[in-house]
Amino acid sequence: CGITACIGQDDTVEPLLEGLERLEYRGYDSAGLAVKNGSSIELNKKVGEVSELVAAVESDPMSGSLGIGHTRWATHGGVTDENAHPHTDESGRIAVVHNGIIGNYQSLKKELESNGHVFASDTDTEVVPHLIEAELNTGATEEEAFRSAIARLSGTYAIAAIIGGDEAIYATRSGSPLCLGIGPGQYFLASDVPAFIEHTDQVVYLHDGDFVVVEPDGYEITDGAGRSVSREVQRVEWNAETASKGGYEHFMLKEIHEQPGSLRNTIHGRLNALTGTVELDEFPPETFTDVDQVQFVGMGTSYHAAMYASSMLSSRGVPAYAFQAGEYGLVCPPVTDGTLVIAVTQSGETADTLDAIRRAKSAGADTVAVTNTVGSSITRECEDTLLIRAGPEIGVAATKTFCSQVTALSLLGERLVEDITGTRTTDGRELVEALSRLPGHVQEILDTSVAPALAQEIEDSESYFFIGRGIAHSAALEGALKFKEITYEHAEGFAASELKHGPLALVTPNTPVFAIFTGFEDEATLSSMKEVQARGAPVIAITSKTDSEIAEFADYVLSIPETHPDVAGIPVSVQLQLVAYHAADLLDRPIDKPRNLAKSVTVH
Ligand code: G6P
Repeated sequence: CGITACIGQDDTVEPLLEGLERLEYRGYDSAGLAVKNGSSIELNKKVGEVSELVAAVESDPMSGSLGIGHTRWATHGGVTDENAHPHTDESGRIAVVHNGIIGNYQSLKKELESNGHVFASDTDTEVVPHLIEAELNTGATEEEAFRSAIARLSGTYAIAAIIGGDEAIYATRSGSPLCLGIGPGQYFLASDVPAFIEHTDQVVYLHDGDFVVVEPDGYEITDGAGRSVSREVQRVEWNAETASKGGYEHFMLKEIHEQPGSLRNTIHGRLNALTGTVELDEFPPETFTDVDQVQFVGMGTSYHAAMYASSMLSSRGVPAYAFQAGEYGLVCPPVTDGTLVIAVTQSGETADTLDAIRRAKSAGADTVAVTNTVGSSITRECEDTLLIRAGPEIGVAATKTFCSQVTALSLLGERLVEDITGTRTTDGRELVEALSRLPGHVQEILDTSVAPALAQEIEDSESYFFIGRGIAHSAALEGALKFKEITYEHAEGFAASELKHGPLALVTPNTPVFAIFTGFEDEATLSSMKEVQARGAPVIAITSKTDSEIAEFADYVLSIPETHPDVAGIPVSVQLQLVAYHAADLLDRPIDKPRNLAKSVTVH
């Protein structure tokens, strides 16, 4: 879900609606806003996309000097107008927006109902305005009432509240993101910076347990006990232009095309191409000499980047394993003094990944975050951070952040290999050199890809399969995930070696198979390709060897530039991003906002 709030302008309706549009990638099954107009609260909330709320506000105008807004990704309660946020107390004097899950809401709801409160929705959130109301009825001030209500909650939350007749926004966070934007004569609160980047680039990332009271002429941040705390005001490195579509039909297409630039940012100042050396300020040589095992955790696309990195390390003699963060606590991998756990997460806010890191820390592991998000929760949980510097990514399907994650992990991986094995190899130098050429290679693909034509050729198939070995296995899983997320067509990725142990039963002339060749074990992948072809499946080879046996046997070829085998998975992924995008475009899918998904899943 996405929260936004605004105070300090004559009328906050427009900036609130703009903020919601910019946060829509966080959830889009319903949206709403509440503004304070004198002593009363005006409210409008709607099932559907933010555009429907905008239309509703146009036909039934509202205005207010401060307000809160919300775009929802349903957790508790179905997708209905009643369940959309903001939620209010019975009198409609208090309005609240919330991101997260209130674990103890059922017992609180029972208690409030037995005291005469009547609930209008099925959500966990609605207990909050009722708790505030109950506190106000005992004579508490607005701030006291807010604090006491929050003290009753368990679970995860970012919450913002307004109260009719009172010129302030009250907010707090615990386990869900919330930041404060500081503009000239105005303040914003939001789950993420794009909500207000058009108005200001000055931001305070709130910490768990912080309370903030924002008034028209200032703000104060305090801890749970009411003591003042000071938080650094940081400048965001990008601007509104970066967070807009910039002439592209979809954010996803824009973000795919941004990759030469985002990859340049990822490697900038971090490698020396002439000597093939990694130069990470955050992790100088010998940082990791005490590490004897690396565990990666991540979810979704980030898990695939984690798998990719773990294959790279294992093949260079460093014991490395990748876990889906949500399974980490169940698998209970052994953690020793020499275990380093690396969290891979674009947003830095994924609940499963944060949990895995907490678990690893309590078992005694050292921790590093690899993330795109300055000030995110993971950067506070982990001892060290490596930023991937991909810039804001709005499309729900991750593209440029995947490639930047893999690139940053490759650099970090080289540092780990050198520190742990005590050797620098020619292969390592070649890998670093290949990373320096990556932005140019990706540009070449963007300029020449035949993905749009291929998407038309394979349209209307029954299923789409993706196969590869080693790092190409991770690229296959990521290719399939991208394809299914945005086309809604059935797509699966497999290790090529697994094919004949089951998935081959699904292969027919109506199931195109994408076979990934990176220059590693190509012979074996070629055999797998021939096996599926013998069953009549159309085969698309992704390879740099366009005049080889691979190209000769394949029905279609997506070509990638010649590069180091461990870097090749990145150009492969760019080709597969383009295939998924164009296939989804032909099907007229809502590419930037696929149904049921959200960009950042901050709940379990
Ligand atoms: C959600 C998104 C995925 C993303 C995953 C992990 O499921 O829809 O695109 O890969 O979360 O997100 P993170 O921010 O931790 O990389």
